[in-house]
Amino acid sequence: MAYKITLLPGDGIGPEVTEQAVLVLKAVSEKYGFNLEFNTALIGGIAIDETGSPLPNETVELCKNSDGVILGAVGGPKWDSLPGDQKPEKGLLGIRTALELFANLRPAIVHTPLRAASPLKDEILGDGLDIMIVRELTGGIYFGDRGREGDSAYDTERYSLAEVERIGRVAFELATKRGGNLCSVDKANVLESSRLWREVMIKLSSEYPAVNLSHMYVDNAAMQLVRAPRQFDVIVTSNIFGDILSDEASQITGSIGMLPSASLGAGKLGLYEPIHGSAPDIAGKGQANPIAAILSTAMMLRYSFNLPDAALSIESAVAKALESGMRTADIAENGAPSVSTAEMGRAIAEFV
Ligand code: IPM
Ligand code: MN
Repeated sequence: MAYKITLLPGDGIGPEVTEQAVLVLKAVSEKYGFNLEFNTALIGGIAIDETGSPLPNETVELCKNSDGVILGAVGGPKWDSLPGDQKPEKGLLGIRTALELFANLRPAIVHTPLRAASPLKDEILGDGLDIMIVRELTGGIYFGDRGREGDSAYDTERYSLAEVERIGRVAFELATKRGGNLCSVDKANVLESSRLWREVMIKLSSEYPAVNLSHMYVDNAAMQLVRAPRQFDVIVTSNIFGDILSDEASQITGSIGMLPSASLGAGKLGLYEPIHGSAPDIAGKGQANPIAAILSTAMMLRYSFNLPDAALSIESAVAKALESGMRTADIAENGAPSVSTAEMGRAIAEFV
């Protein structure tokens, strides 16, 4: 039996980092003796160029028939002037919806050898940071009613009880396995949808007695993340708040080029992608950091394939590459030498 993986390299640096992720996956599959079957499909700008649609039906079908999906990145200046519903980003939003991937896990971890890259002072960072942001991914203002009326425009934040409950369960389960602390982030002092969100989280907490649930307004959470980030273990929040807070959290770890993500649904199938975008300014130059893409494959092994040892072996190979001093340009200290995308990928594959 082979695990079927659909690759969606996409745009900009997407193909470069995906190539290295595949290299590392092949190394780990040899080490642990499991088989992988790769298929590649179009998404984003390149899909628009080749088929006229950012998410061709073929791509959706291939993804649905696979065990895991690896995405590079979508978007770029070439497609920026297209109308909203035809942009490359629409392909990404569309595949999340089509696969019903409502739970987006974004770990923000400080890798010890990169501590100096964090803009936060040592006394704030302490000895490391490990936050898991659980972002609702298929609801809220991203998908609510929107439009134009006369000279106004509107977007709607709307959540059903069932939508909040299912993302809440993912977060409570994760908090149970981690440090037992769950902070639900909302804007319940203003938004009705946040008041529903909070009610549901409180109701759910009675089923998870081992988890300590707290609530925080999103403006305060944005501040607390840079003031005292170590107070957080698991954060659960809405689609748009999670989008914003995860970018903020990524920066306190030092580099957005390091952070992976997993988008999960009710079943085993998941979509795994780096948090960073397509970085058109460095695309094709071999400068991109492939670590976020590589760590995303570790999340796939853990969450979709239930191969925790293989996942750990990728994570420790990344740690070894960093400890050995290898740096891509984004994480190299000022003026220090850096390695290319492919050199970093090869080194991590060899450490595996
Ligand atoms: C992300 C991205 C996407 C989002 C964009 C590209 C649609 O910013 O994955 O965080 O807003 O969800
Ligand atoms: Mn984002």
